[in-house]
Amino acid sequence: MITGGASGIGRGIAEELLSCGAKVVIADIETAAVHKAAAEIGAVGIVTDVAKLESVQTLAAETLRRFGKVDIVCNNAGVGPRAKIESMTIDEWKWIIDVNLWGVIHGTHVFLPHLIANKDGGHIVNTASQAGLAAYAGVGAYVVTKFGVVGLSETLALELAQDHPAVGVSILCPGPVRTNIYQSQRNRPATLIKGGFRDIEANSIVSADARWLQPRDVGRLVAASIRDGRLYIMTHPEMFDTIRARQEAIAAAHNHTGKSEERI
Ligand code: NAI
Repeated sequence: MITGGASGIGRGIAEELLSCGAKVVIADIETAAVHKAAAEIGAVGIVTDVAKLESVQTLAAETLRRFGKVDIVCNNAGVGPRAKIESMTIDEWKWIIDVNLWGVIHGTHVFLPHLIANKDGGHIVNTASQAGLAAYAGVGAYVVTKFGVVGLSETLALELAQDHPAVGVSILCPGPVRTNIYQSQRNRPATLIKGGFRDIEANSIVSADARWLQPRDVGRLVAASIRDGRLYIMTHPEMFDTIRARQEAIAAAHNHTGKSEERI
């Protein structure tokens, strides 16, 4: 089961898992797109709003009704508009947190008991981002949600290793992938009080020599990572410098307090 499966990375994962022989449910808020994509790739499409617990509960019930069990859950649906923090309305905060973070919490909460109940366990893949591992100016709310997804998934991995080792967790942290995320506002609720949110110009956030991937490339990496039980799935090793700089700043701060008279 893959949320956000009507487009982009979710569809790329769906196509790859289908080619590996899986039966696939794609769940998405876009009714026409989810049915069209499902028909094109040979999946089952279920209209779902991941921001709503009841909608994800219905998705799980329908998935189990059709297939009897679920083995792999990809909490992937997300939106990615940009705005400086000072320009955002509370409504905009709520929308992005509802979809990107509550969506992953709902998917985990609802589907995890079914994975635990499986004789052979299962696997959860949560889509975060490179922006879940380091901050990027101009996309603060997105960074907040993706740090949340990383924290949730790392903790879940620790707990499952102790209590239910047959259930694995992976955290997908993509760099730039050619998808429709640059038109995220197409799914903005009509009632939202408008603030600074704008769709990102695809080429404005990455350097001119950025390596753009296709969704299916990411799908292949996800399938291999599930097979190998890898916690972190990194699409762009060249982006590690930003994360290293953050880690080094944190290490330096620890060293400073550890050695100085400020130690408490
Ligand atoms: P996309 O826009 O092509 O696909 C996202 C899908 O999520 C769409 O089909 C959309 O209808 C669906 N969706 C939006 N709100 C929803 C809701 N409330 N309930 C259910 N479905 C909903 O974008 P993309 O890039 O494929 O995004 C997938 C994930 O990858 C997101 O979590 C995004 O943050 C993440 N990501 C994408 C990167 C990129 O460069 N494209 C980089 C890093 C992370």
